[in-house]
Amino acid sequence: MAIPPSYIQELVARNDIYDVVSRYVSLQRAGRLYKGLCPFHSERSPSFMVYPETQSYYCFGCGAGGDVVKFTMEMNSLTYIEAIRFLAQSCGMPMPDEDDGMAKLKSRIFQMNKLAARYFHNNLNSEDGKNARKYLRDRQLTDKTIVNFGLGYASNSWNGLTDYLHRQGFQDDEIVKAYLAARGKNGNIYDIFRDRVMFPIIDLRGNVIAFGGRRMGDEGGPKYLNSGDTPVFKKSNGLFALNLAKKSGKDTFILAEGYMDVISMHQAGFNNAVATLGTALTSQQAKLIGDYAKKVIISYDSDEAGQKATRRAVEIFNKEDLTVQILQISGAKDPDEYIKKYGAQRFEMLLEGANNAIDFSLAKLKNQYDISNADERVEYLTKACDILVDINNPIQLDVYCTRLSKETGIGIESLKTQLRRTRKRRYRKQENKKEKEILRSGIGRNIKIDYREKGNTVPKAFAQQEIICALVRDNSFYNYVKDKLTPDNFTDGDMRRAYTVFVNLIEQNIPVDYSTLAYNLDGGVANTLARIFANNADIILTQKDLQMHIENLLTAKLSRSEASEKSLDEIAERLKLMREKKK
Ligand code: UTP
Ligand code: MN
Repeated sequence: MAIPPSYIQELVARNDIYDVVSRYVSLQRAGRLYKGLCPFHSERSPSFMVYPETQSYYCFGCGAGGDVVKFTMEMNSLTYIEAIRFLAQSCGMPMPDEDDGMAKLKSRIFQMNKLAARYFHNNLNSEDGKNARKYLRDRQLTDKTIVNFGLGYASNSWNGLTDYLHRQGFQDDEIVKAYLAARGKNGNIYDIFRDRVMFPIIDLRGNVIAFGGRRMGDEGGPKYLNSGDTPVFKKSNGLFALNLAKKSGKDTFILAEGYMDVISMHQAGFNNAVATLGTALTSQQAKLIGDYAKKVIISYDSDEAGQKATRRAVEIFNKEDLTVQILQISGAKDPDEYIKKYGAQRFEMLLEGANNAIDFSLAKLKNQYDISNADERVEYLTKACDILVDINNPIQLDVYCTRLSKETGIGIESLKTQLRRTRKRRYRKQENKKEKEILRSGIGRNIKIDYREKGNTVPKAFAQQEIICALVRDNSFYNYVKDKLTPDNFTDGDMRRAYTVFVNLIEQNIPVDYSTLAYNLDGGVANTLARIFANNADIILTQKDLQMHIENLLTAKLSRSEASEKSLDEIAERLKLMREKKK
């Protein structure tokens, strides 16, 4: 639905970006902006900026950026309309005439998924499901487990499920959007999951949100086929069996790699096991686990890939307030195989003896040094600090410092000083890198070179960005710009679109702020704009600047296609060179 710009402006005005963001992120004032730790990626030094002036945010670490609506969407996994509704509610504004197409679609997908899960489950118990039943029996799953996980079977048919859903009143489009069918070249839709054992993925409210399907033989596509992202499912956020693990009431979770590992563990009584869905662990998933557990035991495959994934997972978990332990499985490929081979009891012993990830690294380190030798002891401590610097939990840190101090006879205070130094060094490294990046992307304005220099393609991209930035920050510049520039003068497609939209709105006497503009552009362009505002946050753009940028744009020598091929990085790089030459 189209929401009138005036509505969005009112909404944005009533939901100040600082107020909204600071509900989730602790923000520190830094001049005219605010800084905090980015909620969209894990970091230790703040690169997430909030700009009250443009009511926008931008993260120099991960590139996330936008307005208060976008922030609300990303923070709460909402659609645009849902975010609008959320913000409207929180400031007591009524919604404009609603057509909540997306909400309807979501509820339709939930219905379809539920029906599909039942359909698959019934198939399993039918004549058609004979092989699948045998497969699951061969894998030693009990009936109780099968029911507990709602396992099923997708028949070896191109239209079993689609026909069924059609009969239940669902349309092709919806079925495709639910990722239960795909559309063929002839326009007809066909079942995605065929001749597979089906694992429904269920969220904390008990909704079926997606499926994984395993082939039973050696042929027939990938071993596991998983639902792609849909309006109700984001693979990178999902965890298999989280609904059950949460119900277990345990404050330790076991994280495995595979569906079958989780199912085997649950069957053996370890009902706190969860798995990611065929992808590497993300920080969202780590956070989710942290919401329900205090400790996580990573129980990945024993092969090299599994160990590599373990290391990455440890890094991700270390950023959460979670105790991490690693399960070293030997004599079997994965937990499923281990339990089958050695039984639940031995698996339990394994769990109890699980090495803490940090213990493990420290022990390994200690083996490399003779700590009775003073030099080696110092080196050991330096390296140990490199490991400990990753610990966020102060209690855990204390435990380790105490232990290290006992081991080496070095006072706990000097240990902590050393640790602070290590942290500072690392922080400074990150800061330097960031500073360079910021400087690079915003370098254009600091350079005093002739903008019309022959063959100088450099400031063109900047010129266009700066023009848009100036216009949005101060709509009255439009009077100056309007006779000089048409959208066609913009060589950068994104900025051309932004300018077109801007002109369109302003000619209707609609004031244009960042949110209004972003609402009328696609996400990529909106994000670029957020970055531009971020880069310009502490710059005052005057009419003289505008004049310079416009002249530069109009006298540009490059053809449009050439110009748009240049990446900003190349441009920044060239600028840097020019500046050095000037010196
Ligand atoms: P594995 O290959 O280790 O399978 O993949 P597994 O869990 O041991 O399964 P079984 O015992 O052979 O049945 C681990 C996980 O990676 C994802 C699945 O989530 C799987 O459980 N995966 C694997 C895929 O998504 N697609 C594939 O083709 C293979
Ligand atoms: Mn396996």
